[in-house]
Amino acid sequence: MLLPPLDIAAPSASWHQIVEPRLSEARVDLWLYCQTMVEPMLSGNKWMKLQYHIKLIQQQQYRGLVTFGGPFSNHLAACAAAAKCNKINATAYVRTDKIDLQNPTLAYCHARGMELVAINRQTYRQRQQPAFLELITKRHPNYLLVPEGGSSALGVQGIADLNLTDTPAGQADVIATASASGGTVAGLIRAASRACEAEHVVKEVIGLAVVNDTALTDKVATLLKAAAVKPLPWRIIATATEHRYAKCPQQHIDFCCQFTKQHGIAIEPVYTGRALYKLFQMIGEGEFTPGSRISFFHTGGLQGLAGLRYRNLITPQQFRLLSSTGVG
Ligand SMILES: Cc1ncc(COP(=O)(O)O)c(C=O)c1O
Repeated sequence: MLLPPLDIAAPSASWHQIVEPRLSEARVDLWLYCQTMVEPMLSGNKWMKLQYHIKLIQQQQYRGLVTFGGPFSNHLAACAAAAKCNKINATAYVRTDKIDLQNPTLAYCHARGMELVAINRQTYRQRQQPAFLELITKRHPNYLLVPEGGSSALGVQGIADLNLTDTPAGQADVIATASASGGTVAGLIRAASRACEAEHVVKEVIGLAVVNDTALTDKVATLLKAAAVKPLPWRIIATATEHRYAKCPQQHIDFCCQFTKQHGIAIEPVYTGRALYKLFQMIGEGEFTPGSRISFFHTGGLQGLAGLRYRNLITPQQFRLLSSTGVG
């Protein structure tokens, strides 16, 4: 199969002010920060988390990377794209009983030469245990092990290259993002803490947890400790705890469709849609002081829409609408 050329050009960043009556009623100013790449699989938080892993692989002359993810994982698609662009090998341990190459995410990874290894849920649960990791390292000598979601110290360092503090309208009071394995929010906390060392401008960083993981706060704290950061105030807020990760309740899908129509910015319901839905709820409940300016990181993940369509979790019309805009 002839693959389209892959190109990792410099990310292009854009800010979008979200104007809606419910925001003006609460006197909250909301800005979305989007980071797009020529290779869409690397947009959002993806290349930012992977960039220093790839650099290390090149510097240390590793043969490739080995990583983990679910069968529709944005992280796996991003690793496959980054590996292909940089001519390195990639192996992924996928949480599934069987590698289904009709699945659009796995088909994409496979087409970019990623080796896909199915592991069942029970084995997958061991992915952070030292004995299991040792086994994987032995099985793939001279490969860099990239943790699930790219949430390592290097991933945090990469995200910390972003500046979400300075919106076009002035400095943010609150920085927010979707959070799952914790690296993204840890990186934003690190960046904002450094930016505010002299003068405390950002009051807090919020990770809106799209997974029901009670250990997420501890994971973020551990990542921050490793990064030797004296963090400004931050918290992890649970979203829609009655729905498991990636279950996409109707209200989240409807919210994404409405948001995309109204603002011309594509969002998906697993990460950014779920997180923004909760953020709007918090704004409506008066959680933020009137006059607050919130800066929200759009973390990408739009490749996941094809997987939602494949599983009939969204309709063909919803898929078309949500995939129809270039922004996001
Ligand atoms: C689109 C998208 N948004 C947000 C996140 C959450 O980032 P993290 O796992 O670093 O918390 C992910 C996972 O990497 C993601 O794919």
